[in-house]
Amino acid sequence: MVQYEFGLREIETKLTILRDEFQLMHDYNPIEHISSRVKSLDSLADKMRRRGLGLDFDMVRENITDVAGIRITTSFVRDAYRLFDLLTAQHDITVREVKDYIRNPKPNGYKSLHVIVEVPVFLSTGPLAVPVEVQFRTIAMDFWASLEHKIYYKYDGQVPDGLLADLKDAADTADELDSRMARLHDELHPSSPSAAVPPSPSPTIHAI
Ligand code: GTP
Ligand code: MG
Repeated sequence: MVQYEFGLREIETKLTILRDEFQLMHDYNPIEHISSRVKSLDSLADKMRRRGLGLDFDMVRENITDVAGIRITTSFVRDAYRLFDLLTAQHDITVREVKDYIRNPKPNGYKSLHVIVEVPVFLSTGPLAVPVEVQFRTIAMDFWASLEHKIYYKYDGQVPDGLLADLKDAADTADELDSRMARLHDELHPSSPSAAVPPSPSPTIHAI
């Protein structure tokens, strides 16, 4: 399991370097916070069982891409895409899968930009490509997702219909907050790029 820990460290270092460089060069920090975790053996075993697979490490490597997970909470929507572009453009990073739940939210209202990347870690035996799930989201999206996750947990997945509608409504409110804050940012900084969702998908986004 330790390879996943190493993979996380590599990605964390890349992101903190970007953050510190932004702060130095632009006097601006696009990252509110970064959190990471390696999936516990218990939840890994649960996931393998749910998928009808045995707990074999080769099977885990092939089938489970979120053993190492990192979440970057950004100030504005634009920052999520900007950091995504900067990370995925790095030469040692291979993009395996992109799910853009910001432009295409889930029906429940969930928004985030997900990417599975592979990063090489250099062991005494040679380089090893480690998959890491990276999630980019704004503070408003993070606020909604954290509480929605807790509510789901509380109801054991069986959330009453009325509550589902309220949750979707709350997601729309979080979205409106992101738009308002982006407008405020743009009014205060008319010469810098808009803080809202970039107009079209970045040309660099291509999963292999
Ligand atoms: P998993 O089997 O959960 O990994 O789903 P998946 O392989 O279809 O991946 P997906 O990209 O949809 O979701 C991966 C992760 O995103 C989850 O483990 C959560 O951390 C987060 N996520 C996805 N959907 C939701 C949601 O509806 N609510 C919340 N709170 N988090 C979500
Ligand atoms: Mg997952």
